[in-house]
Amino acid sequence: MVSIDFAGRGEVTIRELSKSFALNGRSLTVLKGLNLDIRPGECLVIVGASGSGKTTLLRVLAGLETADGGEVLIDGRPIHGVGTERAVIFQEPRLLPWQTVLGNVAFGLEVRGESKAQAEEKARGYIALVGLADFADAYPRQLSGGMAQRVGIARALTVQPEILLLDEPLGALDAMTKISMQEELARIWSEQGVTMIMVTHDLEEAVYLADRVLILPREKGAAARLVEIDLARPRDRSEARFVRYREELLREFGLH
Ligand SMILES: Nc1ncnc2c1ncn2[C@@H]1O[C@H](COP(=O)(O)OP(=O)(O)OP(=O)(O)O)[C@@H](O)[C@H]1O
Ligand SMILES: [Mg+2]
Repeated sequence: MVSIDFAGRGEVTIRELSKSFALNGRSLTVLKGLNLDIRPGECLVIVGASGSGKTTLLRVLAGLETADGGEVLIDGRPIHGVGTERAVIFQEPRLLPWQTVLGNVAFGLEVRGESKAQAEEKARGYIALVGLADFADAYPRQLSGGMAQRVGIARALTVQPEILLLDEPLGALDAMTKISMQEELARIWSEQGVTMIMVTHDLEEAVYLADRVLILPREKGAAARLVEIDLARPRDRSEARFVRYREELLREFGLH
């Protein structure tokens, strides 16, 4: 099993973060004065209405988008653009179709100058971690959606990030695959000790995975809210307290 000691690393500090976009000659405020301390090794799940700025926040944390105001610190140091301590997983894994699973996962390491043999050895460890050892030589077109997303997760982990940023990684999967992938993600997160920051539309998924859920407000002036999910792991979706947390989140959306 691949396992790295990340103790005390992967802390994210968000200070007075603001971001606006220019839209039809007007300024659209998406994030306004957001403050948040994400603990090393925490699983923070971000929810909010469509357009509330979840992807924008994740892209700012990834360094793919610059903030207008405020700052993001990782382990106490301000970020400038993308960094090797962060890896991003999108809804679509965007695999290289001409490369095998092994090739796709080893690619990032080879780009960083590791020898092919060394890259492939490490890649095999992560491919096994996501349960695809038997598919190392398969091509992306031969995989199901869930398997392709596992390859994406393995690829992100090979570079040994402190922080995994995920934007609706399970959003395109069917309900059954989604549930087993949620279990996989929970296991991988706890085995790897990585800080996980994940966007989802699925409130049950949020309760299943999160230490804390960040709810972005619909109204830009309003404050974001944090809900601590105080449930033992592995979590039981049918337990009364689990269901109550789900209802609490639903109420935040005015849906209950
Ligand atoms: N590059 C951009 N230029 C202009 N406006 C943008 C840009 N990116 C995002 N926006 C706007 O910012 C707002 C927030 O978008 P964002 O993608 O962060 O929302 P979201 O919460 O991820 O929504 P969804 O749940 O639909 O994915 C939206 O109103 C969107 O139109
Ligand atoms: Mg989004």
